[in-house]
Amino acid sequence: MNKATAPGKIILLGEHAVVYGQPALAIPVTQVGVTVQIDLDETSNGETNRSWKDLISVCAPDIDRSGLLSHFPTTKDPISLVIELVMKEMGITIPPKCHIKIESSIPVASGMGSSAASSVALARAFSSILGQELEDGIISRIAFEAEKLHHGTPSGIDNTVITYAKPVFYIKDQKIDTLQVREPFTLIIADSGIRISTAESVGDVRKLWLGEPEKYGSIFSQIGEIVKQGKHAMHDGDIDLLGQLMIRNQSLLEELTVSSPTLERLCEAAFVRGALGAKLSGGGRGGNMIALVCSEEASSVEKALIKAGATKTFISRVE
Ligand code: PMV
Repeated sequence: MNKATAPGKIILLGEHAVVYGQPALAIPVTQVGVTVQIDLDETSNGETNRSWKDLISVCAPDIDRSGLLSHFPTTKDPISLVIELVMKEMGITIPPKCHIKIESSIPVASGMGSSAASSVALARAFSSILGQELEDGIISRIAFEAEKLHHGTPSGIDNTVITYAKPVFYIKDQKIDTLQVREPFTLIIADSGIRISTAESVGDVRKLWLGEPEKYGSIFSQIGEIVKQGKHAMHDGDIDLLGQLMIRNQSLLEELTVSSPTLERLCEAAFVRGALGAKLSGGGRGGNMIALVCSEEASSVEKALIKAGATKTFISRVE
């Protein structure tokens, strides 16, 4: 197989606190995703003493990367890192000459896991072209290494939920716990259109925590408690409670200074049309917000969000 795909994701509850060891709930979003296709190039390699990076050309217009791998920045290039780690894992030093095409429908820098999905799909397609697709645990670990280049200190939630493509209750450095959803529910995902740097918001939260560890440590613990209740609410099919927990999580995220007037305006617009819960999702300050709705209200909430300024919306059924 020379082609692999990976979905997007949203964080239902628990972002930021998850970096400090608290649990978080994340859900794959299959309406968007990344596809990586790799075609072998049978033409001659030309000079024999070139770098292995001269053998690989990349076409990834959606993430603004195209050309020979050897022309990419020498450090902090997640595509090169993923390929290098896959080769290392498989004991290969010289890759075959090939063209890699990366296509993504996940909005970048919006909290939907675009970078992790690219790494997961690339690691799968590249290992497969080398003869054997690596198992999920290794794929996720490789994508985590690439996430470090994007975010500095990622919790690992993005690469995990995207690799396993199932709702997860995630705690950093612990065994993955996939979730059973008793009652399917509907989320509207709305893009604020504001591109954000997760590294920046994560860095700012770290500064706050370092300045006042007790205050912010307590906010992280409160978020952790909300997530644990959220897991039970999903398990019991208690959608009203899940909505309440999203609202409480949003106000704690506001205390962490990662919300924004635009995100709050979108949450408000969703509530006016009867949403059961709404909050930002991901790094915050921009990117996406999510609203929990009864399926009958979905299209009216979606319209209200667009009217309130959302640049894109998705309806996602979680089951
Ligand atoms: O913005 P995203 O989709 O990369 O989500 C970031 C989630 C954080 O909890 C803020 C950071 C992390 O690594 O978990």
